[in-house]
Amino acid sequence: MTVDKQRWDVLVIGSGAAGLRAAIAAHEAGQRVLIVGKSVKRDAHTVLAAGGINAVLGTRDPEDSWQQHFADTFIESYYLADPHTVELMVKDAPRAIEELVSYGMAFARTPDGKIDQRYFGAHKYRRTCYVGDSTGRAVLYALADQVDRLNIPVLEHQYVTRLLMNEGACVGAFAFNVKTGQRTAFIADAVVLATGGHTRLWQRSSSRQDENTGDGMYLALLAGAELSDMELVQFHPTGMVAPESMLGTLVTEAVRGEGGRLYNALGERFMEKYDPERMELSTRDRVALANYTEIIEGRGGPNGGVFLDISHRSKEYILEKLPRMYQQFMDAQGLDISQAPMEVAPTAHYSMGGVVVEPETHATRIPGLFAAGEVTSGLHGANRLGGNSLAETVVFGRYAGEAAAAYADAHGGQSATEATLRAADDALNALIHAGSEDGRALERDIRTLMWEHCGVVRDEQRLLAGLAKLSELRARVAQMNVRVGETHHDLALAMDLQAALITSEATLRGALERRESRGAHQRYDYPNLDEAMTVNFIITLDGDEQRVTARPVAPVSDELKAYLAQEELSLTGRLLE
Ligand code: FUM
Repeated sequence: MTVDKQRWDVLVIGSGAAGLRAAIAAHEAGQRVLIVGKSVKRDAHTVLAAGGINAVLGTRDPEDSWQQHFADTFIESYYLADPHTVELMVKDAPRAIEELVSYGMAFARTPDGKIDQRYFGAHKYRRTCYVGDSTGRAVLYALADQVDRLNIPVLEHQYVTRLLMNEGACVGAFAFNVKTGQRTAFIADAVVLATGGHTRLWQRSSSRQDENTGDGMYLALLAGAELSDMELVQFHPTGMVAPESMLGTLVTEAVRGEGGRLYNALGERFMEKYDPERMELSTRDRVALANYTEIIEGRGGPNGGVFLDISHRSKEYILEKLPRMYQQFMDAQGLDISQAPMEVAPTAHYSMGGVVVEPETHATRIPGLFAAGEVTSGLHGANRLGGNSLAETVVFGRYAGEAAAAYADAHGGQSATEATLRAADDALNALIHAGSEDGRALERDIRTLMWEHCGVVRDEQRLLAGLAKLSELRARVAQMNVRVGETHHDLALAMDLQAALITSEATLRGALERRESRGAHQRYDYPNLDEAMTVNFIITLDGDEQRVTARPVAPVSDELKAYLAQEELSLTGRLLE
């Protein structure tokens, strides 16, 4: 099959919220922009972000401030976030909300017409703006509408297999169409990576099949970028436990934000033991660990979960605030959540580590390569606050798009050599062969491995055993039966597995190095936080070998230090309606 060639000023890889926002910014800066997505335009993973998007608007709590949002985010990152990245996000989020409104997003409003704000865990004030429990979908649709208005082209079903490099700069990407198999070299002066995270690599995951497979992190690492803190994976406390086909599916934190309570099988409201002050609205890492502890200590329900109960609210209230959750449980289990509790357990939810970017531009260390959204690191550290991720997509999607546009303007006329294109084509051909191993079975085995060896609580023995099993899996992946014919899904799965091997290894290696318990990273063998580990663990490639080095977290400016000093004190006594 011949390889098509297309030329663009800015190529955006990923059609979720971060990618669409980046494309809008680059287009508005006068560049010819193309968006390519693995899936379809209005069905990226963003649609699953349910409960809200954070910005200090002061609708319900006028005393809120960007300084408090900074303190909540940075302190709850366990001091591993990049302080400047956090500062940029909390200051810019209100503007991003205004932009979304200007694109037509219909936020929930108070009776006097202001954008309503609800509680999310560990925020001192109500600053989470929402659209029922479908906020991500509303964000994505608003951005997609704007992309349509601006006539920015979106190519769907494009699986990017490698970034194209020329003299150390990124000059585009090589992709194939999952439906038709058509291969295309997209040459571009600048590239924005907005491909999401890698949490689908865990058996229980809030991601759907074929998304969040770590492909963007893989592409960036192979091209020479750095990954940071891959071990810092957020486990959301409440994923579905039944039926099997819905294992891990998100039960939004908005249920707890609207008053939902957690009980064990003995009927105890167990958060009293773990965080009596903040209870169910404690931080995600604490609630996830509490749920996990109740379950493994034998106080779980029939499906191995704990119980989340919102039935003290009226059905009308639930249908207004949580319509999707109501429908989700009705459809999947025939359960009326206004009458009975939901059974839930922790689920891998968000990659807090990822590609290292410079805060102001979201440039990677590779000239011409930018990144935004969950594929990046820097904002969340060891524990992400719910609602900060949607804010991140729109704030930093814009930064990355603007910076990519400026770079493209200054570095026009990039090209890739024929040898580079041939190498990308050959690498893809090399994956197509008969073999004894089934791709979905391999995928299942990697997901089981990550759940069992790098799950909610880890230890050295299990992590090392996980690395050994991963080596065995690597040999089996090489024997995968990859056929191309009417569809090219096998090839996409083969590429997903290549990415999974690399990103799982990076995660296991990071988890081994982080000999402490901090936020979402909990170790049986190192149960305490170790001040000496207030570092980011950076993964780079040396040939085929992954190298892990520790890098000190960027210092907090004196101005922000002063806020932290005040705010840390005021973090007591927060929350609960
Ligand atoms: O629980 C949720 O609705 C998830 C939101 C988030 O991860 O930000």
